[in-house]
Amino acid sequence: MTAIDYTEKIPNNVGLGEDKALQRALEHWQPRYLDWWNDMGPEGSQRSDIYLRTAVSASPQGWAHFDYVRMPDYRWGIFLSPREPSRRVSFGEHLDEPAWQDVPGEYRANLRRIIVTQGDTEPASVEQQRHLGLTAPSLYDLRNLFQVNVEEGRHLWAMVYLLHKFFGRDGREEAEALLQRRSGDENKPRILGAFNEKTPDWLSFFMFTYFTDRDGKFQLCALAESGFDPLARTTRFMLTEEAHHMFVGESGLSRIIQRTCDVMNDLATDDPDKLRAAGVIDLPTLQRYLNFHYSVTIDLFGADESSNAATFFNSGLKGRFKETKRQDDHKLRDRTYAVLAATDGRLVEKEVAMLNALNEVLRDDFIEDSIAGVGRWNRVIDRAGLPYRLCVPHKAFNRRIGALAGLSVSPAGQVVSELAWAQHQHEWLPTPEDRAFVASLMGRVAEPGKFANWIAPPKHGVNGKPLDFQYVRFG
Ligand SMILES: [Fe+2]
Ligand SMILES: [Fe+2]
Repeated sequence: MTAIDYTEKIPNNVGLGEDKALQRALEHWQPRYLDWWNDMGPEGSQRSDIYLRTAVSASPQGWAHFDYVRMPDYRWGIFLSPREPSRRVSFGEHLDEPAWQDVPGEYRANLRRIIVTQGDTEPASVEQQRHLGLTAPSLYDLRNLFQVNVEEGRHLWAMVYLLHKFFGRDGREEAEALLQRRSGDENKPRILGAFNEKTPDWLSFFMFTYFTDRDGKFQLCALAESGFDPLARTTRFMLTEEAHHMFVGESGLSRIIQRTCDVMNDLATDDPDKLRAAGVIDLPTLQRYLNFHYSVTIDLFGADESSNAATFFNSGLKGRFKETKRQDDHKLRDRTYAVLAATDGRLVEKEVAMLNALNEVLRDDFIEDSIAGVGRWNRVIDRAGLPYRLCVPHKAFNRRIGALAGLSVSPAGQVVSELAWAQHQHEWLPTPEDRAFVASLMGRVAEPGKFANWIAPPKHGVNGKPLDFQYVRFG
């Protein structure tokens, strides 16, 4: 483990200077990455100085350094968590073998696919969020958006490093393709559905960072267990960055809810029209956005029954959330797991081989984790003395992937007719009017310490700075 070297063109703690061929390949990719950033990165931001954190160490304590940076000058680099020399494969057929420092030949194609799929989400979210800077509700929020964006860029670097180092020419071609696909593009879309959706407003952004970045957390946690040690170490360091992205989402939504509740109490009303007239987002609209982002995100875990999931686990490539903390045989051959199926117009549980249900296992872990934050949002409403409660919809609601795809299921979990779906959809998912209303609230607030009317200020600034700190200096 070497310290991070910032004198090199590509900052890294992997001893890049000792592998000249790899260094050359990555230095060749670097200007193409910057071209992509200039093309598809945050719009109109290239000359502004942003108060950002940069990794200066991969140790969990004190890895970040804060200073003003122009984003195109951000030091994107390759940072792996420290190696544990005695680490072993902790699940699957290779249980207890020493963790692999190189790619086992027979798993090459599957590993490449896993890395490419993860890598593709990183630039996708930057593309999805590229217009949001123009309508940030404060400099504090603008800075947080850009922090998320540069770190997603770094996550792309993390995956591209693995492709270049371990996958030869195929890896270099995949790294190239990661810069070619575009979120939402008809001809060359990003790989996964949720990463082709629009993130048109800040409510969507906070929902995305709360729910979809949390999908990222669970995928990364599963890969952090991988028997392929370089992948495990790469994703472990990515997780330290991911935590901030979910904080942005959770606290952003808390602040929106806080502001709405304050106005509900001031005006003594829960009438959405009156609240909208007062320029805040009514709670039922928040619930519809939540329903949408939650359902789109849980699709990301894939089909409930999947032989690929079983293969990835058996081969030691992708573990479960907190694999090493679980008290079972870590092989799961005789175990079963309940998944949902629709029979005669009702949702019923059926037991299937757990190995085939590992996507569902990870989805259920995600659901448990995401519900906890919804509970914290409800405490904001509760403290305001209001009876409304937000909740996540049933897991069969609005699904596009797996056995539940195409069913009409209400947020409460009732299978309903297509007619009933059509009649109630406007209560369950954001309507064009909802989206137009939210869009009408968006407008840049650029004065230090000022916040848009629809969102409360945060409790604390960034890195101990005050709320009226100049987090962005426009250039
Ligand atoms: Fe990421
Ligand atoms: Fe993220």
